[in-house]
Amino acid sequence: MVRSELHQGLEGVTVAETSCSRVDGEAGELLIGGVPVEALAANATYEESVFLLFEDRLPTADELADFRADLATRRDIHADVRAVLRRAAEEEASAMDALRMGTAAATLGTEDCSQTATARRVVAVFPTIVATYWRYRQGEEPIDPRTDLGHAANYLYMLTGEEPNEADVRGLETYLNTVIDHGVNASTFTARTVVSTESDLVSAATAAVGSLKGPLHGGAPGPVLDMLRTVHERGDPEAYVREKLAAGERLMGFGHRVYRVRDPRAAVLSSAAERLYAASGDDDFFETVRAFESVAVDALAEHSTDRRLETNVEFYTAALLDGIGIPQALFTATFGVSRVAGWMAHCREQRTDNRLVRPVSRYVGETDRTWTPVGDR
Ligand code: ACO
Repeated sequence: MVRSELHQGLEGVTVAETSCSRVDGEAGELLIGGVPVEALAANATYEESVFLLFEDRLPTADELADFRADLATRRDIHADVRAVLRRAAEEEASAMDALRMGTAAATLGTEDCSQTATARRVVAVFPTIVATYWRYRQGEEPIDPRTDLGHAANYLYMLTGEEPNEADVRGLETYLNTVIDHGVNASTFTARTVVSTESDLVSAATAAVGSLKGPLHGGAPGPVLDMLRTVHERGDPEAYVREKLAAGERLMGFGHRVYRVRDPRAAVLSSAAERLYAASGDDDFFETVRAFESVAVDALAEHSTDRRLETNVEFYTAALLDGIGIPQALFTATFGVSRVAGWMAHCREQRTDNRLVRPVSRYVGETDRTWTPVGDR
């Protein structure tokens, strides 16, 4: 029997061609739809970034206005989906569990939709699912989406019931643009795998939410914030870092499978967070964040000699989202609110040039077991 080479975690294996994003792990560069992440993050609205991924070009002003209006009309969720989210909140399910349940239920009403309409619907409805769950979780009634607000502003509005200020909306747009797509990461690969079986987009999004939930992927910013708050209270980041590493623990928000240098998204989000904290007049916490990064990178360099471990996207996500006022319990779900557009764009690519995703495994189990009836075992 031919023994195929084992690629644990599919590391270094190219599984798809894509125009969505290019991740250069050696140079620390990221292009989204051909545009450097730095330019897109700082300037685009989230709807522009979604259009870029869906159509593989930037929209004209008229196209953007139509696209924004179209997404806005798709934000409502059915009363049955609300009931699922109310139950999830009553059971104290996590936001990611609620998002998974809400996404699965949001398939209602999309049965006859085209692929384009379903992809838009899934993107439009994610903030409504998260905000509805959160309102119930807070013991409040959900707030209906507004069609006159942009995607980011409406998300903040549905969470609080108040129209957000410009700085918070810009901060959130920057975040949503930054994490909208990132090569074939675990959740994107999950989505592509689902549609490779000729399954549907809602199923792909539901499965991808499950994949994003884990702490090695999208679940890191919550623990990052805990870590930063502890250090901010206690002081002495160096002692904290050394204690964690000595105990064999990983520092959340550091290291990346692909980047061998600092994640370019960390730079984008750190500038956005710096602006936000400076504008709020309370940049004490942000100073701790900066000090922590510098101490941790040095300590990790001593700790792991064979590879450089720098901040990844999740480190500054925690500081930025906290500064905007997004509840910590919603950090990973807010990542999903952005990344869902990347999932949908990748699903379209997968369908255009589909080949069933079906790798092989190497059997390492027993080969000489004999069958014994259950009563004789
Ligand atoms: N803290 C301490 N040590 C680390 C860290 C870390 N954050 N990350 C990697 N290492 C060490 C490992 O202990 C390992 O050391 P060893 O060889 O002595 O055992 C070595 O670096 C390689 O680690 P791997 O797990 O093989 O690296 P991999 O490429 O699989 O991991 C990952 C990437 C999962 C992101 C890892 O760096 C990690 O666990 N980071 C912390 C969690 C995190 O921040 N997740 C968010 C990732 S970003 C995103 O998905 C959007």
